[in-house]
Amino acid sequence: MALKRTPDPQEARAVVQGWRAQGLSVGFAPTMGALHEGHLSLVRASAEECDRTAVSIYVNPTQFAPNEDLQSYPRQLEADCRLAERAGADLVFHPSDELMYPEGFSTYVIQEGLTQTLEGASRPTHFRGVLTIVCKLLHCVPADRAYFGHKDFQQSVIVRRMARDLNMPIEIRVLPTVREKDGLAMSSRNKYLSPEERRQALCLYEALRKADSLYRGGQTDAETLRRAMAAALGAAPLAEPDYVEIVDKETLAPVQVVSARAVAVLAVRFGETRLIDNYPFSEAAERRHPPSSAPRASGPVG
Ligand code: PAF
Repeated sequence: MALKRTPDPQEARAVVQGWRAQGLSVGFAPTMGALHEGHLSLVRASAEECDRTAVSIYVNPTQFAPNEDLQSYPRQLEADCRLAERAGADLVFHPSDELMYPEGFSTYVIQEGLTQTLEGASRPTHFRGVLTIVCKLLHCVPADRAYFGHKDFQQSVIVRRMARDLNMPIEIRVLPTVREKDGLAMSSRNKYLSPEERRQALCLYEALRKADSLYRGGQTDAETLRRAMAAALGAAPLAEPDYVEIVDKETLAPVQVVSARAVAVLAVRFGETRLIDNYPFSEAAERRHPPSSAPRASGPVG
């Protein structure tokens, strides 16, 4: 099927509703473009699991703070459409700011409780922007399933909560982080790193590996693991840690004892570039007892 492209919310909705009226299942991967293997893994998963796949490409201004990289965020619509199509997309929805935020726009989605911590503590208006645009995109692309990456762990928790709290008729699928060969989590922002920053950025993965290896060795004291992660980040002189935490996978509250419910999360600045990564300790348990149908583990063993 040839790729359909549209900037028009009504046309996107009509295409998706048409598919569903024919009894076809529809998957949706919302993105901000600059597609890399992480995004493409979502598109491929959707193409495998659903009859039709839609992708949105929209750099959403409301999730950037005034001092952030909205202007310089990479934009490459033509290349992205080709990549999305090759990965199995049938529809690319690429709205303009005028269509998504018309004059007088004043309605936002706010989640209370999960959005003030971690990313939300450093970026206070970020999740209001994310939830608002995800909610809008899900109205424009009323799919059966929406695909998100575990790399943006807190985002995935909050989006799931919004879908549940607002009775949204959609299944939220969260897929494992995709990594570069050396372990750095794929991100559109990796492009901003200088060669030396890129080399040192591996400390995020090293920190998570350290936590994983201590945990698999039997250490469950969260503070011990947290200190070990901080020490691994400290070995990279250009790294300025923003937070290093171990939190519950649903409440995002810090834990004292690490279990398969816990996730190690970190955010680190390299100059102007802010990187995040995480490790769900459930992956360590899966490695001990690998379920036959589990997705390929993406975490820090290696
Ligand atoms: O994860 C992203 O790329 C963005 O936050 C999303 C979900 C597309 C909303 O703009």
